[in-house]
Amino acid sequence: MSEIPTRTRVVIIGGGPAGSLLAHLLHVRGIDSVIVELRTRDHVLERVRAGVIEHESAEILRDSGVGKRMDAEGFVHEGVNLAHAGQMLRIDFQGLTGKHVTIYGQTELQKDLYDVIDADGVPLIDEAEGVRVGGIDGDSPMVGIDRHGQEHNIACDFVVGCDGAHGVSRDFIPPGARHSYERQYPFCWVGVLSETPPVDDELIYASHERGFALCSMRNEHRSRYYIQGPADTTLDDWPDDRFWSELTARLPETVADRLETGPSIEKIVTPLRSWVSEPLRHGRLFLAGDAAHVVPPTGAKGLNLAISDVVYLVDALAGHFDHGSMTGLDEYSGVAMARVWNAVRFSWWMTTMLHRFPGISDDFERRLQRAELDYLFGSENAQRAMAENYVGLPR
Ligand code: APR
Ligand code: PHB
Repeated sequence: MSEIPTRTRVVIIGGGPAGSLLAHLLHVRGIDSVIVELRTRDHVLERVRAGVIEHESAEILRDSGVGKRMDAEGFVHEGVNLAHAGQMLRIDFQGLTGKHVTIYGQTELQKDLYDVIDADGVPLIDEAEGVRVGGIDGDSPMVGIDRHGQEHNIACDFVVGCDGAHGVSRDFIPPGARHSYERQYPFCWVGVLSETPPVDDELIYASHERGFALCSMRNEHRSRYYIQGPADTTLDDWPDDRFWSELTARLPETVADRLETGPSIEKIVTPLRSWVSEPLRHGRLFLAGDAAHVVPPTGAKGLNLAISDVVYLVDALAGHFDHGSMTGLDEYSGVAMARVWNAVRFSWWMTTMLHRFPGISDDFERRLQRAELDYLFGSENAQRAMAENYVGLPR
């Protein structure tokens, strides 16, 4: 752990992908920062998360020197597959948009980001507890932390909350100055990581009478699978055998026949929700990534939104430090939010189209779902709309 500085330009609360990428991109622009992170490094590096990197997100990582391992070990995917009513449809990203996505686990990206900020010399203060933020309505904010029983204060010009969905940064915005929007979906995902070869070269999103299923991967030997489960399900409900048989039942026969199963090496239950807190700024406090918005994983947008917030914010902060301009900082929340809401919309669309909603007695909704899928299966224009959102709209 580095010495704890008493002053820096930007204090970043949270050292996940948003916080560590922000510190690195600020360093590239000559702006010093300090990260205060609640957990140990090892804890942050152990978290298993999604792994779909949009076309431009990958370019940003590459251009800033964080893309070497992603390019060597990640997989370029030029399309994804949808399964519905026994049919498979390939959404041809490359043909429809000229772009692709890269499959590279967030756990791996987090390692690369920690390596690069270490090389940059950015102080990463781990096990920083009880974070408090003051002075954001004036010109000289201060961030206080407790570490191993000692209190430390860091003076700065700006504070950025990158502390994820369970973070505390947004609570320093007065309640009357922020608004939250939420949609809780009435189901969750059960996810399994296994040392088995992926069932397909590309992702398969399946809509089935029994519920949604997703086949994904980390590399040639490691697969990631998810199935929709009831909202109140727990890990105990899903011994490996039950998980594999339910997954098999929801995949088209040709896919299920070649599925290789094995012991799970990690298993999670994750609720599905959309949640947005606006605005992303109060005085000299800014928010980025999951600290301000969470989307259901169906559209694979969480990590990409964290990256896009950070890119907008770095430009705005550089505009301030290089030219004394507040324009970018004033515009940050509006610009970033426009992208966030589109991702909320796309994630809602994918989620609604592909999941089985419990308790819907009226067939009307089910017919609409089928009509949506039929339209997508039959229309190249509809496929292009999905493709351009999945690979990421231009910034
Ligand atoms: N003080 C300091 N750090 C904190 C605090 C706190 N009070 N609370 C949380 N943190 C840390 C967490 O330990 C974590 O390392 O903030 C970090 C937040 O990281 P993420 O949750 O990964 O959020 P973010 O960096 O915005 O990345 C978004 O993560 O959840 C996925 O789908 C999401 O892929 C997306 C990405
Ligand atoms: C994953 O690989 O974990 C993954 C892929 C696509 C998604 C969600 C998760 O939409």
